[in-house]
Amino acid sequence: MKVSVAAVAVALLAAAAVLMTVPAPAEGSGHHLKVGYYDKKCRGVENVVKYHVAKAIKANRKAGAALVRLIFHDCFVRGCDGSVLLDPTPANPHTEKTAPINIGLAAFEVIDEIKAAVEARCPGTVSCADIVIYAARDAASILSNGHVHFDAPAGRLDGVVSLAADAQRDLPDSTFTIEELIHNFKRKNFTVEELVILSGAHAIGVGHCSSLRARLTAPPSQIVPAYRNLLAGKCAAGPDPIVPNNVRDEDPAAVAAAFPSFLKKLRKVKDFLDNSYYHNNLARIVTFNSDWQLLTEKEALGHVKEYAENGTLWDEDFSDALLKLSKLPMPHGSKGVIRKNCRCVSHY
Ligand code: HEM
Ligand SMILES: *[C@@H]1O[C@H](CO)[C@@H](O)[C@H](O)[C@H]1NC(C)=O
Ligand SMILES: *[C@@H]1O[C@H](CO)[C@@H](O)[C@H](O)[C@H]1NC(C)=O
Repeated sequence: MKVSVAAVAVALLAAAAVLMTVPAPAEGSGHHLKVGYYDKKCRGVENVVKYHVAKAIKANRKAGAALVRLIFHDCFVRGCDGSVLLDPTPANPHTEKTAPINIGLAAFEVIDEIKAAVEARCPGTVSCADIVIYAARDAASILSNGHVHFDAPAGRLDGVVSLAADAQRDLPDSTFTIEELIHNFKRKNFTVEELVILSGAHAIGVGHCSSLRARLTAPPSQIVPAYRNLLAGKCAAGPDPIVPNNVRDEDPAAVAAAFPSFLKKLRKVKDFLDNSYYHNNLARIVTFNSDWQLLTEKEALGHVKEYAENGTLWDEDFSDALLKLSKLPMPHGSKGVIRKNCRCVSHY
């Protein structure tokens, strides 16, 4: 069939006119994020978030670590859409937070507190997805004494889909090999260097013994025996106790008993977000198999050494990597809303 150029042009113009008059569906794509997105829509919202994050960390520094983990676990699964915050319901009993890979995920009540304060100020305006990003950014900044910092663009929408199976598929497991870790990060367009940079977040927070089980029998080439003994002792103390991710935050008594040579390296301020993870890693004193695995591949090892040597470089590159993480978009065409309560989709 022969169609004249003019007829095609008319058809295209008509199609364009329709596209312009039909309002675009709310889509949670990451392409319209803007620094200062709420400047006019909800003035001062970033200060409100910061106030509540600072308060939570003052009460318990562990809340800060939990918020830093939350950005990763939200953004790697269906993009940064607050889907990790959704509670299970009879209609959807297996939301992301019920996934085994999300063991230990915390600080949900800090997000609730922020959301409540923000709703009181500007109802129905600020997404839970943006609150997760602002809160993680502020937590990282506070725990690093301001060395980790970046301007966080906003304008995300909250997703309505949350499935444990998606979390299991998209998040890395502590038992992963270096090949599996690299592949997992590559799927989200993150490089080997960024894998190393982001793993440095394990300078803070805690892990369950079930997440480091294999390390308790790993050979001395993979973990310093004195540290392994320390972990084994702690892990024998209950069904699934938690231990600090960073050996420098261990109890002095446990270190004195199992690993006295390390006593002088303990930190005064726990959960301080710095490059100590890389020093610990090179010394084979890290908790997770996935941490140690970074030493087993040439490029990754090079970056571990690089960040051990230059803490300022890590502060900067970690800030950039968190910013990149914060831009992971929802799957194309996903529905986006602004929830009233971050834990459920039914109240928007
Ligand atoms: C590279 C792959 C990664 C693996 C395999 C991994 C694995 C884990 C595991 C198993 C835990 C302990 C969970 C528990 O047993 O309670 C943990 C904790 C943590 N992870 Fe990761 N992680 C990875 C990357 C990241 C990234 C990219 C970040 C953030 C940028 C991050 C931040 C944290 C933080 C802050 C904690 C402590 C949380 C708390 O104390 O509440 N991790 N991670
Ligand atoms: C990764 O990059 C490719 C090519 O630019 C893009 O099509 C894909 O959506 C990106 N993946 C994610 C998870 O952002
Ligand atoms: C460490 O990194 C910072 C930030 O990139 C850079 O300015 C500085 O020159 C580096 N220091 C050393 C000793 O290489």
